[in-house]
Amino acid sequence: MSFSILGTGKAVPDYILTNDELSTMVETNDEWIKTRTGIEERRVCRNETLTELTVRAAKNALEDAGVAPSQLDLIICSTMRGENITPSPACMIQKEIGADCPAFDVNAACSGFIYALDVADGYFVRKKVRYVLIVSMDNLSNIIDWKDRSTCVLFGDGGAAAVLGEGEDLLSVNLTASGNDEVLRIPHGTNSSPFYEHEEEKAVLHMAGSEVYKFAVNAMSSGIKKAVADAGLTEADVDHVIPHQANIRIINASAKNLGIDRSRFFCNVSHYGNTSSGSVPLALDEANRSGVLKKGDIIAMCAFGAGLTTGSCVIRWSKDSSVQAE
Ligand code: UT7
Repeated sequence: MSFSILGTGKAVPDYILTNDELSTMVETNDEWIKTRTGIEERRVCRNETLTELTVRAAKNALEDAGVAPSQLDLIICSTMRGENITPSPACMIQKEIGADCPAFDVNAACSGFIYALDVADGYFVRKKVRYVLIVSMDNLSNIIDWKDRSTCVLFGDGGAAAVLGEGEDLLSVNLTASGNDEVLRIPHGTNSSPFYEHEEEKAVLHMAGSEVYKFAVNAMSSGIKKAVADAGLTEADVDHVIPHQANIRIINASAKNLGIDRSRFFCNVSHYGNTSSGSVPLALDEANRSGVLKKGDIIAMCAFGAGLTTGSCVIRWSKDSSVQAE
């Protein structure tokens, strides 16, 4: 197909919110959160804005790729939460890094990074671009109901970026959407129109956790299976799975369904919780920079989220290690 990943970079807020601190805010405890989700801590924004984090991730990825902002032909930001409705976060990234190219957002909730890869693929196939920057970042801490223990323990802020260049490393990609606002939804919350007649809802995340859980295990298992088959490969060919980091039990159940050894799944959910669209690229960046990924490795990525959306893909990793030699 059309592109190679040339570099990755992450950005997370400094503040670490532990399970113990959460236990002072709602009726929960470290044991419950760890056993049911695998999460030990997450990052939350205090001083940082979404723009600052996206720009930091973008600069890290550009440096890793050895690509200058002036070389970029397109910027795609996947997020649900810019500071402004307009200008888009993608335009703010373009301004702050000093690029001169089109920039727009995609919103596919937690599946956003893989949706953005698929959009970028089209630009490469049409030969409209040589370098594309994707930044996937969410800061759901500002729309979490911090009194709702069933959701506030699950999410964290942060994300990552990837720089794409011409190449042949996208082996398959598959997106799905099945509109459903009953199990996972975040309303806007405000409407300034004096003519609007609907009752306003509080802008907080509403989720039927166990419904999403069932959807997630099925989405992850069938999504990876299809992406691997579409790439003309079998599960045995997959060196690494970079799954959406929502809940370690979802990852374990999917590994079992797929018959892929759990050790091949890269997991960092214990440190960050669910960072929505930031989750898959954040894991990809940590895998890249920890030296886990070797040139030629086959990587399956899969995400699911509100919409309900899913995205899965298989890529070949053809980048030299980002780990600096001692
Ligand atoms: O990016 C996509 C976004 N979402 C997801 O991926 C979420 C998918 N769902 C899940 O990860 C899981 O369903 C949860 C982690 C949300 C919940 O785990 P669960 O095993 O499905 O628990 P549950 O909702 O069935 O709740 C079990 C019990 C309930 O008490 P009772 O009714 O059995 O007495 C809850 O009230 O656990 C209680 N509970 C808690 N207890 C302590 C719920 N949240 C907490 C909490 N601390 N934070």
